[in-house]
Amino acid sequence: MRVLDRGDQLRKELEAARAAGATVGLVPTMGYLHRGHGALVRRSVAENDLTAVTVFVNPLQFGPAEDLAAYPRDLARDVEVATRAGAGLVFAPPVEDMYPAGPPGVTVHVAGADDLEGASRPGHFDGVATVVAKLFNLAGPCRAYFGEKDWQQLGVVRRLAADLSFPVEVVGCATVREADGLACSSRNSYLSPAERQAATVLYRALSTAALAASAGECDPANIRRLMVNIVAKEPLATLDYAEVRPDRLLLAVRIGTVRLIDNLGA
Ligand code: PAJ
Repeated sequence: MRVLDRGDQLRKELEAARAAGATVGLVPTMGYLHRGHGALVRRSVAENDLTAVTVFVNPLQFGPAEDLAAYPRDLARDVEVATRAGAGLVFAPPVEDMYPAGPPGVTVHVAGADDLEGASRPGHFDGVATVVAKLFNLAGPCRAYFGEKDWQQLGVVRRLAADLSFPVEVVGCATVREADGLACSSRNSYLSPAERQAATVLYRALSTAALAASAGECDPANIRRLMVNIVAKEPLATLDYAEVRPDRLLLAVRIGTVRLIDNLGA
C-alpha cells in the first residue's frame, strides 16, 4: 500500500501503472471508511488492476453552518480498511495541495441540481463537482466508483463526466446497509444510542412506500404521504424532504442535529 499526499504523485503513479498495461479504478471518499466505502473498493479491485482510494474532506462542499470541522477523520484506520479491501494506493492530500491559493477561482457549476440536496445545501453540488473534476484530472483514464446512497450525487457525477468529456467510466454501486436497514454513513458515528435507534425510520419509511408502490399505489402524493407520516411518528426525527421521483423515493431527515439521507427504488 502506498499513501500519497500530493496530486502530482497520484498523477505520476497512475500514469506509470497505465503505461505498464494496468487498468485503474478510482474510489473518491471523504474518509472515515465504512462497509459502504469498502464495497466500492472491493468492486473496483475486482474490475481493475490498480485501485486508488482518495480520502479528502472537501471544504468546498460544506455550507458555512455545516459540520466541516467536526467531520470524523481517522486516516490510519482508512489506510487499513483500504488495504484490507485490496486497494493499492491511498491519496490523502492536505487542503493546501488541492486548493493552494485558497478557494478556487474556477469551479464547476452543475445546472439542474438545485432541488433536494441542492436546495437544502446551496453550493453543495458545485463543491462536489469541482473536487471530483480535479480528482478525475489527476487520475486520468479510469473507472470511478460512486454509491447509490448519494443518488443525486451519482447523477451529478455522471453528467460531469459526460459534459466535460472526462475519460472516466462512472460506475454506480448499490447502497450498503446495517442489519436493521440504516444505510452505512460516516455521519452515523454522531448518533447517540437512542438516535441510532430512531435513525431506522428512514429505511422504514422508504421500504413501506416502496412496498405500496409495488402493490400498485401509483399516486406520488399518496406514496410521499406514507413516508411523511412514518417520519412524523418518530419523536427524534425532523423531516427535511420526502420526494418521489421517477422510480426513486428520496428522504432527508434530521435525527437530533445529524442530517441523514437515503433513497430506494420505487
Ligand atoms: P463520502 O460520503 O465519503 O462517500 C464516498 C462514496 O461512498 C460516495 O460515492 C458515496 O455514495 C459512497 N457511499 C457512502 N455510503 C455508502 C453506502 N452505505 N453504500 C454504498 N455507497 C456508499 O460522497 C462523498 O464522500 C463526497 O461527496 C465525494 C464524492 C468524495 C466528493 O468529495
